[in-house]
Amino acid sequence: MGIFDSGVGGFTVLRQVVKTYGDVPCVYIADTARAPYGEKSPGEIRLIAEEVVQWLSEKNVSALLVACNTTNSLALDVVKKISNLPVLGLIQAAAEMIYEDRVGVLATSATVSSLAYTKEILLNKPNTFIVEQACPKLVPLIESGNLDTDESRKLIHEYLRPLLAAKVQAIIFGCSHYPLLEPLIQELLPKNIRMIDPAVGLSSNISKVTGLNKVPNDIKLSYRNTRVYTTSSPNTFAFRAVQWLGEIPSVELISLRSKSCFF
Ligand code: DGL
Repeated sequence: MGIFDSGVGGFTVLRQVVKTYGDVPCVYIADTARAPYGEKSPGEIRLIAEEVVQWLSEKNVSALLVACNTTNSLALDVVKKISNLPVLGLIQAAAEMIYEDRVGVLATSATVSSLAYTKEILLNKPNTFIVEQACPKLVPLIESGNLDTDESRKLIHEYLRPLLAAKVQAIIFGCSHYPLLEPLIQELLPKNIRMIDPAVGLSSNISKVTGLNKVPNDIKLSYRNTRVYTTSSPNTFAFRAVQWLGEIPSVELISLRSKSCFF
């Protein structure tokens, strides 16, 4: 499985994959040199997607998991054009998970501007009321690893406020980084609001395109078959992996910049 994101956000997808199918071989790219993607222009996001997918397609993976909503929003066509592999995204998976009438989406600025979530949800459930909230400060916060602070709570509260005012019944983590904030968000949300992690739906869909068998849900998670590649500071990234996966994987430095070196 080839999994890619700008940083640690894709771990939320990797975690679900391993939880669902066991320690399957995965190649994980964290393009940390260019994170956050969510504040870049659509043109930059599309060019970056091209480079990442070209690199991953040469890695003998069975499917591509777009573990980044920003890429999913603005460059899914690019990903599908470059690769002959099955491509699975988070946004369609999320839309399939919704049964509520009033839904909030927390996402990056680029994802929110694209309205990709609103469009996909309305395709499935045309009468849904949707409110999208951009959260530009969350990815840098999560990448810093320093989450459990009053500042973080204040920030999350600010971003949740419009969704609560709109009386949503469910909130989608429309950026793969945000499930890492789930304990903090849970503290601030009324119990009757459901949190939706699109990675759960995406993982479940993998068996339909790869024939992988699901494993019992009480297995101990292990990532021995995951190879991690990053575009900057492999040591820092290995440290983050321990924080989120509980294991220290081998992390290799790669360079993906070809056309996008002017960003
Ligand atoms: N985790 C990615 C997403 O789901 C990218 C976030 C970013 O780099 O801004 O959108």
